[in-house]
Amino acid sequence: MAKQRCELGMVGLGVMGRNLVLNIADHGYSVSGYDKDGSKVRELQAEAGSRAIHSARTLNEFIGALSTPRVVMMLVPAGRAVDSVIHDLAPQLEADDLIIDAGNSHFKDTDLRAKSLAEKGVLYMGVGVSGGEEGARHGPSLMPGGPREVYERVKPIFEAVAAQVEGKPCVAYLGPGSAGHYVKMVHNGIEYGLMQLIAESYDLMKRGLGLTDDELSAVYAGWNKVELQAYLIDITSRIFTRVDERTGKRLIDVILDEARQKGTGMWTSQDAMDLQVPTPVIDAAVVARNLSALKSEREAASKDLEVRTSRLRGDRDAILKQLKGALYASMIITYAQGMALLRAASRVYEYRLALEDIARIWRGGCIIRAALLEDIRAAYHAHPDLPNLLNDSRLGQAVRRGQKDLRTVVGLAGKLGLPIPCLMASLAYFDGYRSAWLPANLIQAQRDDFGAHTYERVDAKGVFHTRWE
Ligand code: 6PG
Repeated sequence: MAKQRCELGMVGLGVMGRNLVLNIADHGYSVSGYDKDGSKVRELQAEAGSRAIHSARTLNEFIGALSTPRVVMMLVPAGRAVDSVIHDLAPQLEADDLIIDAGNSHFKDTDLRAKSLAEKGVLYMGVGVSGGEEGARHGPSLMPGGPREVYERVKPIFEAVAAQVEGKPCVAYLGPGSAGHYVKMVHNGIEYGLMQLIAESYDLMKRGLGLTDDELSAVYAGWNKVELQAYLIDITSRIFTRVDERTGKRLIDVILDEARQKGTGMWTSQDAMDLQVPTPVIDAAVVARNLSALKSEREAASKDLEVRTSRLRGDRDAILKQLKGALYASMIITYAQGMALLRAASRVYEYRLALEDIARIWRGGCIIRAALLEDIRAAYHAHPDLPNLLNDSRLGQAVRRGQKDLRTVVGLAGKLGLPIPCLMASLAYFDGYRSAWLPANLIQAQRDDFGAHTYERVDAKGVFHTRWE
């Protein structure tokens, strides 16, 4: 590349970083790329072709290649790697230069980093990037947070590289400070919930109904054509047809049943607990991954705690229809929990989130994109401060219609002894949310009995205490 100064620099040239560099360059921007690992720099160089991409061999060379004020994006693993990059970069940067953390950092880390860099006048943005390798290369959903005026500097690049839905880019300024990383964290929490719900439907069809991989693929392909249409349903359908090169078997059947995680789902649950917002589907999805990791314990227990189970009896097509209804209702409930958390967090952390924008930018590019997100967007367009998506007439009605199927499916799985924690959590949340009365009066009485914690009454204001014995 000729000696022209680059408009943006990327630190971290793993697949995500490299693909994003190529995407940005494809939209006419000049980019410099740097990675501590020289082989990754060479890989970028090899792929760059005639694009305006500069591959920097050293950090000095990288900094020198950027036009000022500089824009440095980093895409490195969350945690120490981010601090290490900042540690190396900061001495070389000047006031008004901007660092963008485009990884999955914890939002509290983002706030701390922004504060510490502000002391030397360096600007900081936390930006959620979703869509995996493919999204980074051809159009991710971008969730930027930080100072609004700083966002204006990078807005044209972000809007150019983001996925487009109905001619609009899947990016919007979300809010100050760590708003972008918070929204990405909740995106991932919802992602965990949806993935586990789909996995539970798979279990019911495989162990419950005895469907083959081809049949499973066909069912998910069918569901992907109707209201359940979603990226995760689509890839699930394709996964079942993939043949393992080593054995000739279906790849899915030789993959170990232990789910790994990098922690974003757990962070969502942790913060939801801190803010006292119920997100039981997301919590159950995190727990399900943790339980899956206890493989050897589970193997031992499968013998010691054996429970005789049989196949699901009844009309197969009718059961599949019920499963479809149950999954759809649970998907709505999962988004409802994530969005309710965003609404609460927006107040506590003063993000001033526009939930409609979030639903809009999740319609394309990201992992949780789904047809449903257009209904969610419309719900917030009509009522920007909707407390819960279940209060929306259209989505509420859809869940009311699906709850019958959800009840049937939960009952069937219970009889068979198949674990469906997220489907169950969805139903329990729905039943709890729509209950004008809950047995929490007993909890109040118990707390007052053993700990004199006091209670409130239905017929008078104030707090009361009883000497129970
Ligand atoms: C995305 C994904 C992405 C990543 C997850 C995986 O939106 O593109 O969410 O960020 O694949 O972080 O998370 P786990 O390793 O925790 O499953």
